[in-house]
Amino acid sequence: MLGVQTTARRLIRRLAGDRTLSPAMRAVGATAGMISIPEADLLYDLAREVSPGHCIVEVGSYRGRSTVALSLGAQNAGNGVVVYAVDPHQTFTGILGGQFGPKDRAAFYRTMLRTGCWENVALVNLSSERVTPGFEAPVQLLFIDGDHTEAGVRRDWGCWRSLLVASAKVAFDDATNPDLGPYKLLAELLASGEWRQAAAVGKVRVVERSH
Ligand SMILES: C[S@@+](CC[C@H](N)C(=O)[O-])C[C@H]1O[C@@H](n2cnc3c(N)ncnc32)[C@H](O)[C@@H]1O
Repeated sequence: MLGVQTTARRLIRRLAGDRTLSPAMRAVGATAGMISIPEADLLYDLAREVSPGHCIVEVGSYRGRSTVALSLGAQNAGNGVVVYAVDPHQTFTGILGGQFGPKDRAAFYRTMLRTGCWENVALVNLSSERVTPGFEAPVQLLFIDGDHTEAGVRRDWGCWRSLLVASAKVAFDDATNPDLGPYKLLAELLASGEWRQAAAVGKVRVVERSH
């Protein structure tokens, strides 16, 4: 039986060479990560909309797959805004059993160099609560894909929500599994009436203010 890593490597090679995909999605496909191509396409489109002077924040970057989608959306088709990639890259076991650690930082750096995304990506190698106290850039797009426990996603949301501009969109990965934190938080935000769903692709859900 093929190992999970061998299968993942084969998939990456196939996607990287798939001529039916745009160059940006081929760059995404060539990077290890947890989002699908349609989900990456959604992030690419959301990143295009971010206005000059505003920024994108991603919580949970791993080896840079979703970061590439956000970065290239802003660089190629948008306003070249900065993507702050927030991930401590420390030893961490995700709620679904995923193993993460410092080797992912090396892979992230390689991804940035290979794709040219270093141009507008700033890696912030810390957890949200260490970052937001001194953070001043207005956030128009927030992608939360870090610690999917309820406490983890609530911590990230609590840290970043006051930095969101009025027109901000917030995307949550793994928002369709009722056992995970993003699903629970999302249900609460929608029930509050303050937020409404703006998009849904795969396991990603996007919300914006109802106004
Ligand atoms: C599911 S992976 C992210 C996948 C990535 N967005 C992609 O599309 O490939 C989760 C990441 O969250 C990171 N993480 C864990 N705790 C975190 C925290 N407190 N703040 C930011 N990132 C965290 C882990 O180090 C890991 O790299």
